[in-house]
Amino acid sequence: MAEYTPLMSAPQDDDEIETKKQVEELSPRYVLLFSVLVALMAIAAAAAFHLSVLGATHETPRLLRPKDIEATLRMAHPSPNLEKGHAIMVNKKFKFPRMMFPMFIVRANAAAPDELYKSGASVVLSPTDSMIYHWRTNSTWPKCYLTAWVSSSEELSAGHKGYTSDGDVTALEIWNLSTPENRKSLETMSWNARPARVSLLGTVNFTSREAQNRLGYLDAQEISAPTPRFDCLGDTKITVEVVCKACRLEFDQVFSMPPLGFELMQLA
Ligand SMILES: *[C@@H]1O[C@H](CO)[C@@H](O)[C@H](O)[C@H]1NC(C)=O
Ligand SMILES: *[C@@H]1O[C@H](CO)[C@@H](O)[C@H](O)[C@H]1NC(C)=O
Ligand SMILES: *[C@@H]1O[C@H](CO)[C@@H](O)[C@H](O)[C@H]1NC(C)=O
Repeated sequence: MAEYTPLMSAPQDDDEIETKKQVEELSPRYVLLFSVLVALMAIAAAAAFHLSVLGATHETPRLLRPKDIEATLRMAHPSPNLEKGHAIMVNKKFKFPRMMFPMFIVRANAAAPDELYKSGASVVLSPTDSMIYHWRTNSTWPKCYLTAWVSSSEELSAGHKGYTSDGDVTALEIWNLSTPENRKSLETMSWNARPARVSLLGTVNFTSREAQNRLGYLDAQEISAPTPRFDCLGDTKITVEVVCKACRLEFDQVFSMPPLGFELMQLA
């Protein structure tokens, strides 16, 4: 079952404990709603998710094609059959990808290169604004990928979320940055002080997951070449810069369902 995981399970220092506190403050009712939504997301994740990965983690009599799974999911949707659909997945020992919420989300503004921005929910991308993201994981799941996760407009409006965009947001660049020794330096940052770019990992498509899933050729679309997946077994830190060369995109990335934003997905 997919989880939306904000941090590694054993807090290491203050900033992680703070994040944990925020999570613990969620009310039981909210948590219940959250788990229902997570279940829905798990189904969506499975649909979006390429079976070669699933196939590699367990033995099936034959490798299911994406269309087969889609058919199963269509049957499992909406709710009366949701449990049944989930049972099928569990039965087949599918492990859903785990979504990791970033630890830092910081703006870097080339138009005000020395202005300091604090890590927070506000995401602003433009030809002069990049966003720096940092994730940390420590798990036995060996592979990760980055993705732009945009829930359907119905889900977003039900969750009082949304975004504004202008221009082409279908190929946002993701650059790998060197992770500074002192992670605190990521908490408040300026354009001039941001970590150096190491390499272009690929691009992500900031459009509705639902619409992408409907297109066969985009089935299981994740970050595009050159680095679709990377190793993330054990303690792993990754810092990236999201760049939008000819567009504007603004939204708040908050730790709640439905997901909206740039996410690290971890695979069993
Ligand atoms: C990562 O997890 C393993 C197993 O739970 C633990 O032994 C190790 O200390 C953790 N590493 C860090 C840096 O937290
Ligand atoms: C990103 O760059 C760092 C520093 O060079 C490197 O250790 C890491 O493996 C790179 N990550 C990916 C996913 O390429
Ligand atoms: C991005 O996804 C949309 C569907 O939401 C699709 O129409 C479009 O072709 C995709 N673009 C790229 C570059 O993959």
